[in-house]
Amino acid sequence: MKKVRKAVFPVAGLGTRFLPATKAIPKEMLTVVDRPVIQYVVDEAREAGIEHFIFVTGRNKTVIEDHFDMQFELYNTLEQRGKHEQLARLQRLQPGPGETSFTRQQVPMGLGHAVWCARDLVGDEPFALLLPDMIMQAETSCMKEMTELYQQSGGNVIGVQECDPAESHKYGIVGKGAEKGTGFAITGMVEKPAQGTAPSNLFINGRYILQPQIFDILAKQEKGAGGEIQLTDAMLALQAQQDFFGYHFRGNTYDCGSPEGFVEANVAFALSRPDIHDKVADTIRKLANEVVPMERRKEPR
Ligand code: UTP
Repeated sequence: MKKVRKAVFPVAGLGTRFLPATKAIPKEMLTVVDRPVIQYVVDEAREAGIEHFIFVTGRNKTVIEDHFDMQFELYNTLEQRGKHEQLARLQRLQPGPGETSFTRQQVPMGLGHAVWCARDLVGDEPFALLLPDMIMQAETSCMKEMTELYQQSGGNVIGVQECDPAESHKYGIVGKGAEKGTGFAITGMVEKPAQGTAPSNLFINGRYILQPQIFDILAKQEKGAGGEIQLTDAMLALQAQQDFFGYHFRGNTYDCGSPEGFVEANVAFALSRPDIHDKVADTIRKLANEVVPMERRKEPR
């Protein structure tokens, strides 16, 4: 079985839920405590043993490429000022030469289309796919657990988590079959099922290990919900030929694609830091008692 060596990060979306913040700054570069969102996801992939990081980007996203490049002037200045700890941290997070690739989606035609844009960079091997909107907190990362399951199960592996059944119409939901190692067989998938029709309350959490045959299906460029080329549709078609397994992730996931999920992520990651936990916890308690929602007429115009 081929090892999962490459990871794809689709970062070409418009981030409309975050306007005006995302007018000139990609949403993947918004910071959660002191790291941009995209850094969390790349670190998760690295922890899972990924050796090559492929970014599918679009207009206004060059800053992502810069973020993962060497910054000689900054490194020299930190060295001269004796800021060795900060320098070492930057160097630890830095991908090595030739470990990153960037391609352009050009037109944001949907997640499935963004994934298809990585076809030549991935080539004929299984790959990890991580949606940068979703960042996670757990002892062992979701993708690491998924690659371990994959080594036993082969096929395709999808990360899932439980949601409130009343909310299942907002997500991609999988049907659960027989247990298999640390995972289970996926019996079906449905994107945003109508109320009361979901096969389970297990939603797809933005982590996938996929076989390269997905590209042949995506190449047909068939449009699905919202007129976009949907990854779930392509996975459903691939399921007719290959096995799909679910990995039930039990850590916390934050959807940084929405302002409330992004704030939640900031609070959770700040509280997880021993150096700032107490201060942040005190501030949250204090503000929750003091601050009331601002009336609309008082918002700045
Ligand atoms: P989203 O639908 O959450 O991202 O896609 P978006 O379109 O940027 O968000 P809103 O709704 O306008 O606020 C999930 C992931 O897929 C990527 C996004 O960048 C995000 O990481 N994506 C989506 C693409 O790369 N290309 C697309 O055409 C669509």
